Amino acid sequence: MTHSDHPTPLEARASGPLGGKARVPGDKSISHRALILGALAVGKTRISGLLEGEDVLNTAKSMRALGATVERTADFAWQVQGVGVSGFAQPKAPLDFGNSGTGCRLVMGAVAGCPVAAVFDGDASLRSRPMRRVLDPLELMGAKVTAGGEGGRLPLTLQGARDPVPITYRTPVASAQIKSAVLLAGLAAPGVTTVIEQEASRDHTELMLKHFGAEIVSTPEGHYGRRIALTGQGELHGAEVVVPADPSSAAFPLVAALIVEGSDILLSDVMTNPLRTGLITTLREMGASIEETDVRTDTGEGMANLRVRASRLRGVEVPPERAPSMIDEYLVLAVAASFAEGTTIMRGLQELRVKESDRLAATADMLRANGVKVEISGDDLIVEGRGHVPGGGLVLTHMDHRIAMSALVMGLASDKPVRVDDTAFIATSFPDFIPMMRMLGAEFS
Ligand code: S3P
Repeated sequence: MTHSDHPTPLEARASGPLGGKARVPGDKSISHRALILGALAVGKTRISGLLEGEDVLNTAKSMRALGATVERTADFAWQVQGVGVSGFAQPKAPLDFGNSGTGCRLVMGAVAGCPVAAVFDGDASLRSRPMRRVLDPLELMGAKVTAGGEGGRLPLTLQGARDPVPITYRTPVASAQIKSAVLLAGLAAPGVTTVIEQEASRDHTELMLKHFGAEIVSTPEGHYGRRIALTGQGELHGAEVVVPADPSSAAFPLVAALIVEGSDILLSDVMTNPLRTGLITTLREMGASIEETDVRTDTGEGMANLRVRASRLRGVEVPPERAPSMIDEYLVLAVAASFAEGTTIMRGLQELRVKESDRLAATADMLRANGVKVEISGDDLIVEGRGHVPGGGLVLTHMDHRIAMSALVMGLASDKPVRVDDTAFIATSFPDFIPMMRMLGAEFS
């Protein structure tokens, strides 16, 4: 299956100037982590601004299945009563992570450090994604795959370690999911678990572990990397978490406002952690008008309001070392590049092949279907911007929320409408995308 049971197609067409103020939903990465750390902590965790998308709700369900109490409160916050490090109970049914690689891989790490066995499963997209990258270090720490897992794919049963072993692990690719899985398993191991990354990936796990009371130290390693050392077997304490708006979701209205002539919008409370802002850096290099106001650091992650005005964009070269800080944003950057004047070269995109879909191929297909000249050369994507996009194409979303949203953004400024075959997966990360974009002036039908 490459779409939902009841596909809901949608068409986006050239729209008048976008305007107004919007707050995109809470950050997906932080939302998953707040639920998982809340479940591993002693005492109560209160989370405000949690993303209530399907991916995160599946993580909430898995935390309940492992013994934590997770409830939505009357004031729209979420409360987690944790079980403590190594305190997970044996789940009675398989844990279903739906479309979410992050939820699945991080919970694998948390389970690996507890003496319980859990079945991990997900939808057709998640079943096709590689899990060996996470299972390899977790097995070094003492966890075992006891059933399934053929070719490193779901469904599989993971038996957590009774006495997890601390390791020093050099991640083979820059991946916050691999790093986080090892650190979460390391919480239950005696001594120091160390992760070394050649290129720093998003550091929300490290920041939040510190916030919950863990002993964790992160130091620079080489040119772009980090060495993260976590001392295990300390207690985590329930904490207050405020989830800022997700920069990866803000990317869609942001690019829409840049390409729809005359637009001027304000996106509030967007997280500005520098390990997530590669898209903004790149768009500014392309000539985008993105102004940060009301800059705050109070959540420990950084946050600002972004005023975005329609801009004439020009092609640029995006260096490979920037990829970890914008890994989920290349689809929508490719849309911006199509409307730019000149060639944009995005280098080092091999990791895009193992996301919710093969996003490298899907991006090229999306652009070609709408009359844009594009080429994949090795791991690089080359887009020929001509200042306008003919449009008129049908885009297959391959169970991938970000393909659906990127294609719809493209249609808001293309000569002819752009149609997507299925918008159902948008609910995994941005359930209100369509009404919010309509409120800003987007025309969908
Ligand atoms: C995420 C990490 C990224 C990203 C994903 C969220 C996370 O994956 O693509 O959407 O929250 O840790 P990788 O770290 O595996 O690249």
